[in-house]
Amino acid sequence: MPTQTQALVVDQVGATPVLTDIELADPQPNGAAALPERRHNLCPNKDTAQLIPRVRVITEVLVRITACGVCHTDNLIQHGGIPSAFPSILGHEGSGTVVAVGSAVTRVQPGDSVLLSYSTCGECPYCQNDRPAACQNFFVQNFGRTRNAAVGSEPVAKAVATGEAIHGTFFGQSAFGRHALVVESSVVKVSPGTDLVQLAPVGCGLQSGAGVLLNKFKPSPESSVAIFGLGAVGFGALWAAVHLKIKTIIVVDLFPSRRDLALSQGATHGLAGNSPSLLADIRALTGGMGTQYAVEATGVERVLRTAWEAIANFGHVCSVGNPGPGVKGPFDINDMVNTSKTWSGLAEGDSNPPIFVPQLMRLYEQGEFPIQSISKVYPVERYDEAIADMKAGTVIKPIITFK
Ligand SMILES: NC(=O)c1ccc[n+]([C@@H]2O[C@H](COP(=O)([O-])OP(=O)(O)OC[C@H]3O[C@@H](n4cnc5c(N)ncnc54)[C@H](O)[C@@H]3O)[C@@H](O)[C@H]2O)c1
Ligand SMILES: [Zn+2]
Ligand SMILES: [Zn+2]
Repeated sequence: MPTQTQALVVDQVGATPVLTDIELADPQPNGAAALPERRHNLCPNKDTAQLIPRVRVITEVLVRITACGVCHTDNLIQHGGIPSAFPSILGHEGSGTVVAVGSAVTRVQPGDSVLLSYSTCGECPYCQNDRPAACQNFFVQNFGRTRNAAVGSEPVAKAVATGEAIHGTFFGQSAFGRHALVVESSVVKVSPGTDLVQLAPVGCGLQSGAGVLLNKFKPSPESSVAIFGLGAVGFGALWAAVHLKIKTIIVVDLFPSRRDLALSQGATHGLAGNSPSLLADIRALTGGMGTQYAVEATGVERVLRTAWEAIANFGHVCSVGNPGPGVKGPFDINDMVNTSKTWSGLAEGDSNPPIFVPQLMRLYEQGEFPIQSISKVYPVERYDEAIADMKAGTVIKPIITFK
């Protein structure tokens, strides 16, 4: 039976989300058998490697949403930065409790607590080899509103008042609602006592920043890293760098308050993003060399240029920030060759959510991933205030709660 619930519905490009009575479809079974569990093949010790259920054919899970973080990508879709289907429910940092599952679902059962992350196809070579963040179908899974083989990208709901069809499945979830119909690959089962409010945002921006350090750079403690941009991505990167005991951690942002917070949490130096001496200062802090690593977490093209110039020869800058389609890398191949520098990109921190999200949760429990220091919780009725605070820069990670 369809679920009567409420969600924030964006009627058309540029419209403000409005809390709307909706009727949400039932989770779709597709009858296909899930693959047997398999050991995570990236773990060096196969005997102790964690068993993770894999998902071949995409099935659905009905989740009662507890909370959902707000990410800039929601804003991007709302304002047409990436073409999408409307009317639409956004939100892709959800958490909650499973209410019902499609018949082929293996990861969870009703009553389970879950954190939600991005969605993957489960079938391509990357998914099959436990590198789901590189899923060949990443775009269509996360932006194309893809549900499963049986129903394609059909809308998940209709408005009670008008009967108008409403699209969900944004990042496999569309979690800005009291309930969401979630693609199974977006679901991470967590233990019953989990703080579903503060941990809701782990599944996107925070893991994207932390993953650069923990999954990609894997730097030695003697290293130096510069983090450009102190939003959720930048703080995720900072906390990972502090956890790895990196000797020199330079943070760069326009807001003094964000730099001060980062300095109080283990950054060794804070520099203003608009300082004319920024590059000279970074070099002075690194013996004239530049840093070995840099994380670009602003999405601003000219900041990437600065990050490129701020790294030492043999250095590595990773773009996590995304200016959107069509923007080319702002540096010269000749310079790249002659300096032996590396520029790379990374989606979702190369996270395999059933493995990486619990890893970050453990850091949170140990006090090393202090999400509450950057978050502010708003009930859904105060969603507009959350967005205004985010735009004003007074809150880094708004978390919307649903009762
Ligand atoms: N690769 C991925 O998988 C992934 C995942 C999540 C987010 N993102 C992208 O990462 C970027 C950061 O996301 P966020 O949620 O942390 O954003 P955010 O807006 O919260 O943070 C960006 C920060 O950059 C700072 N900034 C802006 N211009 C600057 C400048 N010239 N110098 C220094 N700092 C500057 C801002 O003050 C802000 O603190 C966005 O582009 C987002 O789309 C990518
Ligand atoms: Zn895939
Ligand atoms: Zn996001």
